[in-house]
Amino acid sequence: MTTPAEIQFKEVDLDVVVETAGKVVIFVDDDGRLDAGARKVNTLNRKAVARVVESATFEKMKPGDVTSVAFPTGMSAEAVCIVKLSRRPSSQEARKAGAKLAKVQSGKDMLVLGGTISRADEIALGMALRGYTFDAHKTAEPKPKGAITFMVSKPEEVAKSAAPMAAIAEGVFFTRDLTNEPANVLTTDDFAARLAAMQEIGHDVEILEEADLAKLGMRTLLSVGQGADSPSKVVVRSWNGGGDEAPFAFVGKGVVFDTGGISLKPAGGMEDMTMDMGGAGVVAGVMRTLALRKAKANVVGLVGLVENMPSGNATRPGDVVKSMKGDTVEIINTDAEGRLVLADVLWYAQERFKPVGMINLATLTGAILVALGHENAGLFSNSDELSDALLKAAATEGEGAWRMPMGPAYDDLLKSRIADMKNVGGRMAGSITAAQFLQRFVKDDVPWAYLDIAGTASVKKETALAPAGATGWGVMALNRLIADNYEN
Ligand code: BES
Ligand code: MN
Ligand code: ZN
Repeated sequence: MTTPAEIQFKEVDLDVVVETAGKVVIFVDDDGRLDAGARKVNTLNRKAVARVVESATFEKMKPGDVTSVAFPTGMSAEAVCIVKLSRRPSSQEARKAGAKLAKVQSGKDMLVLGGTISRADEIALGMALRGYTFDAHKTAEPKPKGAITFMVSKPEEVAKSAAPMAAIAEGVFFTRDLTNEPANVLTTDDFAARLAAMQEIGHDVEILEEADLAKLGMRTLLSVGQGADSPSKVVVRSWNGGGDEAPFAFVGKGVVFDTGGISLKPAGGMEDMTMDMGGAGVVAGVMRTLALRKAKANVVGLVGLVENMPSGNATRPGDVVKSMKGDTVEIINTDAEGRLVLADVLWYAQERFKPVGMINLATLTGAILVALGHENAGLFSNSDELSDALLKAAATEGEGAWRMPMGPAYDDLLKSRIADMKNVGGRMAGSITAAQFLQRFVKDDVPWAYLDIAGTASVKKETALAPAGATGWGVMALNRLIADNYEN
């Protein structure tokens, strides 16, 4: 498992700066004002900092940008990194500044002269998040990580507020690792084992095997995995940090690989379907964060783990299967499998836990990429209240989400001649009809929201806080949603 960089907060001691190896970081605000740390470095290297600050380079820098002076005179350091940042940055600016620092750290030790800057905790979170690399399958010796020391005027206070953020980074890393992992490694068995290991941090973990699922009547879920050699599973984790109130429920699509089944996908890009368990990955990560920061809430996280493979035993287009709820589904396209998995897990979550609210996440449709690209997840909901709370949490955390419409006319597109519904609604409004399908398995009195993260779970180009690959999108938003609305 990839672990976030450990960042030490220490009392400011400017006397050590001259002898410090590696990289020394200073902050200069938008007006070019140097704080005590920056003045110290400026004196040591004969006003090189002041020259940078007066230059056009500095003028052009945006808040949070970093420029480096290599091998500065009068110091042992390899570089001085100058961060342009207001003394009171927004949390997003602070995180982005931290992320830029992680990018220039390149394995060296780093001494950050934070002084009295506000949101040092958020800067540290940005450093941790952007410092992620997935090298589980690189055979070369891993590069040294470099220690990070952050000098601030009130180290105990900052360390205290940084602790829950370290829990966030751990949750995000857990999600990214799962989502980046190839399908021959992250099998359904392996995924379940990684979740079972969460008992160490105080989760109750229960694994429902195929026989259990059959007994429960989860035929739509089982129909997806029946062509694969890997066994289908549902893993239920609970974090009981609240009183005895009913829990909030998270549900995730965990298709460890999606070939499309008999409705086989084209070869080009099929390898990306290793990330089709991204919804389950987010549920796994946010549950980890909640436990690590000992959230005062009751939350259950359920994931449906299956592999969608073609074989002699695979589901055929045209097959009709019965869901746990009792409704029958005509499977027109075996590549619309995520909704079949979620239908049963959503129903089970409601029957068993009577949750106060329920959110499911899934890399469900290619159509959401067409609509929203990589910038926003699609949000669908039966509750304005839950939807608004979720949008607010996502915006606060800088994770894009955009609400999409639903309605009876879309639901009509799912009518089947021979069964209660079809699993696809045609080419038009593909993301919405998928949401309508899910809503058929949600009870009217349960506030429910669904996030289609097909475009945000994994990306080809780096983002502000993540390198290319799995982003961990959603862990921070869901953690905040719980913190701001469901903790007592
Ligand atoms: N896992 C895919 C959706 C997906 C596409 C995720 C691209 C990430 C990136 C899903 O199971 C799927 O195949 N959906 C089909 C639905 C269609 C058959 C109605 C799709 O989007 O083409
Ligand atoms: Mn599919
Ligand atoms: Zn899929």
